Amino acid sequence: MTVKDSSQTGEVRAAGSGSWSGKNWSGKAWSGRFAKGSDPQAERFGASIGFDIRLLPYDIEGSQAHVRALQRAGVLSAQEAETLLDGLAQVYRDLSAERVGAPETAWELDPADEDVHMLVERLLAARVGEVGKKLHTGRSRNDQVALDTRLYVRDVLGQVAAEIRNLLATLLELAERHADWLMPGFTHLQPAQPVLLSHHLLAYGEMFWRDAQRLAECYGRTNVLPLGAAALAGTAYPIDRAALAAELGFAAPSENSLDAVSDRDFVLDFAYAAAMIMMHLSRLAEELVLWSSPAFAFVEIDDAYATGSSIMPQKKNPDTAELVRGKTGRVLGHLTGLLTMMKGLPLAYNKDLQEDKEALFDTADTVLASLRVFTPMLATLRFDRARLAAAAGEGFSTATEVADYLARRGVPFREAHRVTGQIVRHCLEHGCGLADLTLEEWRRFSPAFGPDILAAIQPEAAVAARNVYGGTA
Ligand code: ARG
Repeated sequence: MTVKDSSQTGEVRAAGSGSWSGKNWSGKAWSGRFAKGSDPQAERFGASIGFDIRLLPYDIEGSQAHVRALQRAGVLSAQEAETLLDGLAQVYRDLSAERVGAPETAWELDPADEDVHMLVERLLAARVGEVGKKLHTGRSRNDQVALDTRLYVRDVLGQVAAEIRNLLATLLELAERHADWLMPGFTHLQPAQPVLLSHHLLAYGEMFWRDAQRLAECYGRTNVLPLGAAALAGTAYPIDRAALAAELGFAAPSENSLDAVSDRDFVLDFAYAAAMIMMHLSRLAEELVLWSSPAFAFVEIDDAYATGSSIMPQKKNPDTAELVRGKTGRVLGHLTGLLTMMKGLPLAYNKDLQEDKEALFDTADTVLASLRVFTPMLATLRFDRARLAAAAGEGFSTATEVADYLARRGVPFREAHRVTGQIVRHCLEHGCGLADLTLEEWRRFSPAFGPDILAAIQPEAAVAARNVYGGTA
């Protein structure tokens, strides 16, 4: 989609007048009070049409509901309402469904139209004539854009929630397929204690389950109707806001008109929920990057989600995981940007609020694209059972079992810990592992050791012992 730069085509600057007259300025909806048009740079700077065209379907839906509310309030006749409803449907068709939400489609947008709301109104008047100018009765772009944005966020929340459901189902399936596979658990990225691969995968399941809950909560706060707040003080027409809310599927109309037109908490709620999802994806991505490195060799990423090197023929790089990790940065950035944009705004509407859109759209695009590529990548992972099992026993990962063994036989835990540390040091000095020690050697460290210590230090035994509610067993 391209935005026409009228400053370059010379359409805006009035020849000889020395003032900015603007191609359409006298046709602008608010031109009455103005003696001259906008500076073309200022016009371009202020225009949101280049990106808020994505709100078109929501703008049409909201305007049609507004028309019906005006008719019910007796402000529009049945005839006028029908003309406007048809006209809006035609405008939508004219702008063509395929162009909506497809920023790559070449399509000329004129900054003179300012934003999607003005564009629709202009095209409507062009289609249906004078009556088109009645559409904006009792409404402001302030409650209109709040409505459009809520309808958009509602839609996106449904899409993201569906992707999270897919991701959860995939994690669950993956965990079931690897239910009893051993792997090393880490703290500080150092071998800590053996765990089950399924337990590790389902730790991410918990994170994404909380994300699903966050999205649902966000939906509740988004699903409130701002229309009827008008510019800031409420509309002066007898619009039944409860009926309007019901018609548009909102749980209720907003309680305070000032808040309704200046509240973007729902955008921030979504930005936060999206940032959390990306942060969770990024952590898992980081583990896949590590695990697919030959140094770990725990997992192989399917060729479909990896790339090669232009110079090193042996390379297989986990690009998809890396890029999801990388894209997390911009979503976190949008959250910070939105919070910063909001923090100094007096009530009610301020133009600053227009800055919510690009951050919101990019957040939604990025989280959806990331989820849509991450889930199939997960589904096609190939874990190496032997390598994971071997690693599960490396690095003295069952040393805690040794200390627990002694503690169960009456040795105070601190003493048991000290003795076990000495055993580990002994092994390090002799270049062996715990499993290489003979019973006689064990007994040299403590007479409490019996022959069953050899079974107790098996990774399987360590996992089985952790059968507390929520534990790896
Ligand atoms: N394009 C504007 C936005 O996104 C629409 C609202 C304009 N309202 C106004 N009073 N200038 O915020």
